Amino acid sequence: MNPRELLTLIQSIRPDALARVLDASDAGDNDQQPESEAALSALLRDASLPLSLRFGEHRVLLAAGPQDLVKGAGTAGAGPLAGQVAVVSGAASGLGMGIAKGLYQAGAAVLFTDIDADGLVKVCAEMDDPARVHHAVVNVTDENSVAAGFDAALARFGRVDILACCAGVAPPYNLVDFPLDKFRFACEVNLTGYFLMGREAARIMCAQGHGGSMVMLSSKSGLEPSKANTAYNATKSGELHMARGWALELGGEGIRVNCIAPGNVFEGSKIWNPEYMKKAAEKKGIQPDEVIPYYNSLTALNAEIKPDDIANAAVFLCSDAARRMTGQVLVVDSGQVWTR
Ligand SMILES: NC(=O)c1ccc[n+]([C@@H]2O[C@H](COP(=O)([O-])OP(=O)(O)OC[C@H]3O[C@@H](n4cnc5c(N)ncnc54)[C@H](O)[C@@H]3O)[C@@H](O)[C@H]2O)c1
Repeated sequence: MNPRELLTLIQSIRPDALARVLDASDAGDNDQQPESEAALSALLRDASLPLSLRFGEHRVLLAAGPQDLVKGAGTAGAGPLAGQVAVVSGAASGLGMGIAKGLYQAGAAVLFTDIDADGLVKVCAEMDDPARVHHAVVNVTDENSVAAGFDAALARFGRVDILACCAGVAPPYNLVDFPLDKFRFACEVNLTGYFLMGREAARIMCAQGHGGSMVMLSSKSGLEPSKANTAYNATKSGELHMARGWALELGGEGIRVNCIAPGNVFEGSKIWNPEYMKKAAEKKGIQPDEVIPYYNSLTALNAEIKPDDIANAAVFLCSDAARRMTGQVLVVDSGQVWTR
C-alpha cells in the first residue's frame, strides 16, 4: 500500500484522526504492529488517540489534532501556522523561497518543491528544524510529477493544509517579436502549473475534510498590464480569475483561495536576471543600474519591496486571522496599482 492509499484507508475508518506517515525505519518503542489490513481496521476502530503503529513499510502516527501530530512526530513549530502542513512550488528561489521560509517561520511544516534540485537542498539546509522541512523535485507542468510531490508531502507529514503556487516565468518580448514557443511555455508554467498544483491540493484537502488555504502568487501585472510582457500579463491575470472560481467552488469545503499581487521584487529573483534588467532599462530609456531606484520611485512609499513583505502577506492569508477572506487579491506593491 502506498502512503496515499494507507491514508485513505485510515481516513475511511477514523475520520476524526489526523495521520502522518513516516518511514518504518524511524521505529518507535511503543508502536503497535497489525499484521493485516483487517487487523489494522480493527485496531483503528477501537484505539484511543494519539497512537503510533507500524504497518508494512510505513510507520503511522495518529493524533486528535494537528498540534499533537507535529509534537508527536518531532519538534512543534510555534506561531500562527503551528501544526499546519504547507506545499510550496518555486521554493528554490525568489518569492517562492521567501514564502516557503515565511510559512516555516510561522510554525508550519513545509514541503519545498521546484525543478532546481540543488537550490532545494541548499535552502532546506538553512532551516533549523528538520522535522518540519522536506523537499521534492516537482515540475509543475507535469501531472505525474505534481502527484508525486504531494505524495511526498503526505508520506512525510501526513496531511496538506496549505498550498502556495509560486513557480512562474516571464519571457520579455515585444508583441511583434514574441516567439510562439515562449508564449506557450509561459502559459504552461504559469497557468497549467497553477491548475495542476491547485487541482491536486483540492483533491487532498476535500478528502481530508478539514478545509485548507491556497495562495496563488500573481502579480501587479495581473491587474495592470506592463509593456512587452504579453504572456506574463495574460497568465498573471488568468491566475487571479482561476483563483476566484476556485474560491466559489471550494468554499463549501472550508477551503479558502486568495491571491497576492506583488509589485517589483528584485532581491533573490531570477526573473530579474541581468538580461531582464537590460530589457527593462531599454524599455524605460535608463541604465540597468538605475532600474531598481526607478521602479521604487513609481510607488507611493518610494520603498523597495522585499521577499519578506510578500511572505508576511502569505502567512496572514493562510492564518486564522484571514478566516473570512476568500477569492481576494492582496496587493503588496508599496502603492503602485490602484485596481483590484
Ligand atoms: N520578482 C518579482 O518582481 C515578482 C513580482 C510579482 C510576482 N512575481 C511572481 O513570483 C513568482 C516567482 O518569481 P521570482 O521573481 O521569485 O522568480 P524566480 O525565477 O527567482 O523563481 C521562480 C522559481 O520557479 C521555478 N520554476 C520555474 N519553472 C518551474 C517548473 N516548471 N516547475 C517547478 N518550478 C519551476 C524556478 O526554478 C525558480 O526557482 C512568479 O510566479 C512571479 O510571477 C514576481
